[in-house]
Amino acid sequence: MLTSGGDSPGMNAAVRAVVRSCHHFGIACSGIHRGYAGMIDGEISELGMRDVNKIINRGGTILQSSRCEEFRTAEGRTKAFQNLKKHGIDSLVIIGGNGSFAGAEKLNKEHGIAMLGIPGTIDNDLFGSDYTVGFDTATNTVVEAVDKIRDTATSHNRLFFIEVMGRDSGFIALKAGIATGAIAILLPEEDISIDDLVALLERNGAQGKTSSIVIVAEGDANGGAMKVAEKVNTHLPHLETRVTVLGHIQRGGSPTTCDRVLASRMGVASVEGLMEGRSNEMVGVVHDQIVYTPLLEVISTPVRPSKDEFRISKIISI
Ligand code: F6P
Repeated sequence: MLTSGGDSPGMNAAVRAVVRSCHHFGIACSGIHRGYAGMIDGEISELGMRDVNKIINRGGTILQSSRCEEFRTAEGRTKAFQNLKKHGIDSLVIIGGNGSFAGAEKLNKEHGIAMLGIPGTIDNDLFGSDYTVGFDTATNTVVEAVDKIRDTATSHNRLFFIEVMGRDSGFIALKAGIATGAIAILLPEEDISIDDLVALLERNGAQGKTSSIVIVAEGDANGGAMKVAEKVNTHLPHLETRVTVLGHIQRGGSPTTCDRVLASRMGVASVEGLMEGRSNEMVGVVHDQIVYTPLLEVISTPVRPSKDEFRISKIISI
């Protein structure tokens, strides 16, 4: 098993569930350190049942993670596969996101090793599961931070632009924006121009609103919170504006109950799936049921935040 790509809260709960399930079914289990980089460098060690004690509540990943350029090459993947063979590994559980699964898919095609994926990313941008491990925790972290920022916004009659993570997706922005009562939510998936935003702020000002929060997804087409604030300022120079980029605070911390349970279910389902002969699929939870979706479909099917949530966010933000 390995954790790959950006770490997400709940990865440790998934690692624990995989190790414990293997033990339950009498299967030997190893951890590959630092993701695909460790697979290429042979950083592989056996994990016993007690090696995963007291990690269900810990953020990050005890296996560590990486974004590995070398694994993008066929030579890198061959080197990695040779190390797997050397350690007697015949099946893989890969906990990660889109990029990690694209690499996994290639490894499977070239070398035929059995593998299942577990969606571990705060971005929630994977087809085949309603939620990914880490998204709930990250969103709650954002909500907690924005609630605090709102105290200053209210006390000083300020307009805050708060940038949240989501490289190409607005899931965190939309959920957190609704939960914090943001006046506007800028997402890569929805087209809101600076002119629209300025008109909205003017209307709200005229209606007596004195402070506001605008949530900006980092992947928004307007270029992030700093740029949006600059552009709005040129139109509305009388507003006192501030920018906060929440950054990696969103990726850390103890996972929520939802993420711990989701990761635990998926960890068990990954081992059971491999035992049933499944391969090249991602474990997901859809409508509260475990499902398996081919990795190719996962990586090639775009997902987007709910249109209905976006619609209602506009109705209730006035
Ligand atoms: O994919 C998860 C994510 O947190 C994105 O939301 C963000 O754009 C990216 O990772 C940041 O990656 P890194 O930590 O490598 O800078």
